[in-house]
Amino acid sequence: MILPIYTYGQPVLRQEAEEIDKDYPKLDQLIKDMYETLERSEGIGLAAPQVGVPIRLAIINLDVISEDLPEYKGYVRTFINPFIEEYDETETDIMEEGCLSLPGIHEKVKRAKRIRVTYQDEQFEEHDEWVEGYLARVMQHEFDHLDGVVFTDHLKGLRRQLTKSKLQDIRQGNFSCNYKVKVKR
Ligand code: CO
Repeated sequence: MILPIYTYGQPVLRQEAEEIDKDYPKLDQLIKDMYETLERSEGIGLAAPQVGVPIRLAIINLDVISEDLPEYKGYVRTFINPFIEEYDETETDIMEEGCLSLPGIHEKVKRAKRIRVTYQDEQFEEHDEWVEGYLARVMQHEFDHLDGVVFTDHLKGLRRQLTKSKLQDIRQGNFSCNYKVKVKR
């Protein structure tokens, strides 16, 4: 089932998401629905709060961009209770980002190139790994959502000022996009 994407202004996007365990009800169905929703909205990552569920769960599909970045061929992963344990601050890069919850906004964001993450997969197997490059960026973006952070929070100065009115428009439902959304009423 395709779920509506909660857009900026929805309180769930500002909440600290809760950790879950194997007994979380209908988890498999939620994950399946999130993949369908991600595909329909042509995104590369989706965090549970973006479909209105405040739990530490995110999915990433980089297979869809593997024509440009062949190293990510087949990279489709589910992250349960992910945490960024370390940021290697020795190297950062700047790249444009967008977000399904912030339709129409695209801004350059500075992020660490390498991070250490811990998470569980769909079988609740534990993982602890260093990741880098584009994947590290997408993880930082998605896992931020689990801490109530959106990418425009990282902007500084003039860029931050300039996005304020766009964020206000989204909050009020003054935007268009080609996927189903849930605007705060
Ligand atoms: Co996002």
